[in-house]
Amino acid sequence: MALLEVEKLGSPILRKIAEPVTLEEVIDPLFQSFIDDMVETMEKFDGVGLASPQVSKSKQVIVARSNTNARYANTPDFPLLVLLNPNITPLSDVMIDSWEGCLSVQDLRGKVSRHAKISVEGFDRRMNPVFFEAEGFLAIVIQHEIDHLNGKVFLDRMSDLSTLSHLAEFSRYWMPQSAKA
Ligand code: NI
Repeated sequence: MALLEVEKLGSPILRKIAEPVTLEEVIDPLFQSFIDDMVETMEKFDGVGLASPQVSKSKQVIVARSNTNARYANTPDFPLLVLLNPNITPLSDVMIDSWEGCLSVQDLRGKVSRHAKISVEGFDRRMNPVFFEAEGFLAIVIQHEIDHLNGKVFLDRMSDLSTLSHLAEFSRYWMPQSAKA
């Protein structure tokens, strides 16, 4: 496995629409190790999710996993998720606000509104179809990562830029008390 370089805001690939993954690609061992590299890279940098365009491949691949880490100290855990060619449908008009960050947008957090509950359709890393519903933090992460496949970053979703904060100021002024522990 290898660590991949994470593209930062300003890199044109972050603004491109990612191509769907094909069955031919999925059966290529190199593609499977690319997915492993994405997982390793996400974990190395304490991310809860990573989308393929962030590591210079404009393909519809996202990975996500949450376990308590330094960047997200007070978030629910969920097991590793690898999704190819994902699509989401909102299941409710209820929106939830939360603070988001991004490995491609260094040192910033901002408040973003997302659908509280979604259904997710796509394929696993072996191209088996998957369908499930997600809510809360998992739903937020999936929406954030799928945005990357459509050339969007969380800044584009902010309706009020006044909450945009550097990490140190976020911790000092905005982080919920319980998360500081
Ligand atoms: Ni991101």
